[in-house]
Amino acid sequence: MSKPSYDWLNKLPKIELHLHIEGTLEPELMFELAQRNAISLPYNNVEEAKAAYQFNNLQDFLNIYYQSAQVLQSEQDFYDLTWAYINKSHEQNVVHIEPFFDPQTHTSRGISFATVISGICRALEDGEKEFGITYCLIMCFLRHLSESEAIETLELAKPHLEKIDAVGLDSSELNHPPEKFSQVFSLAKESGLKLVAHAGEEGPAGYIWSALDNLAVERIDHGVRALDDTELVVRLIESKIPLTMCPLSNVKLKVFESMSEHTILKMLELGLSVCVNSDDPSYFGGYITENFNELSQHLSLSKKQANQLVQNSINGCFASEIRKKEIQVLLDDYLIIG
Ligand code: ADE
Ligand code: ZN
Repeated sequence: MSKPSYDWLNKLPKIELHLHIEGTLEPELMFELAQRNAISLPYNNVEEAKAAYQFNNLQDFLNIYYQSAQVLQSEQDFYDLTWAYINKSHEQNVVHIEPFFDPQTHTSRGISFATVISGICRALEDGEKEFGITYCLIMCFLRHLSESEAIETLELAKPHLEKIDAVGLDSSELNHPPEKFSQVFSLAKESGLKLVAHAGEEGPAGYIWSALDNLAVERIDHGVRALDDTELVVRLIESKIPLTMCPLSNVKLKVFESMSEHTILKMLELGLSVCVNSDDPSYFGGYITENFNELSQHLSLSKKQANQLVQNSINGCFASEIRKKEIQVLLDDYLIIG
């Protein structure tokens, strides 16, 4: 099989498993919502906002990301945010999505949990009706806050549990190891939720062990640092734990100095269950097709490898077995033609 073009990668049926809905806020929509809600921004225009998106590490990014999220106020704002991402997903032939949302970013500003989840879910439902894009929703706890605040958030989520499939853990990783949240993850599991966590993005391989052993997660978000620990690599291969990688994010946040140094294809060849995702596309320079395309441009991704990366997303997603089979057919048919 030959090297895939952008167009081939764009038409490839895809799944997104690591996507922060707040990270899809494009500067254009940010300005529109700021005006709608009479909120002042620290930028005069879209170009100035984009110019500010230069980060040396995760925390640099998070500072801007949390500030921008303040423009999200009403149910309609959350709808518009999510609807814009769904349209982009449709353009890029993404057929199943599992977005994260960060309720604490909003409840801490006096926005109700119901406002946030209603707007997001109304758009997700419309996306399934209009484009057939299926979804699961993942509620993340902010790891720079306390475990008791995470437990309060889980309590707030209780009336909405039928809309939530899993919990995750995001925000500042260093000095906030997974075990800090073992109780709330255990409570979430008792509530019937699936479990995922960011680990090994900036934090060490030990955080991946901890997410597996102390939180009992089914997927690791990022996990690039796994390669530092051979025993962990063996464990991840044997258990087929999905690692939801985000190449453009890793370069933008200086986890890797350049795309050509990214280890995702090395991990794939080792037999790790890595897949491709966009994390916070409006801040990192591209959505899922652009992430695949970076691998094609800088790491000579083959069509066979692109197929395996999507296969890993199918295997690792939380869709029903019936839906997984449907997506498998879409992928197999595409590869026959392409
Ligand atoms: N929140 C949004 N993007 C994130 C990332 N890449 N890591 C941790 N928390 C995040
Ligand atoms: Zn992330």
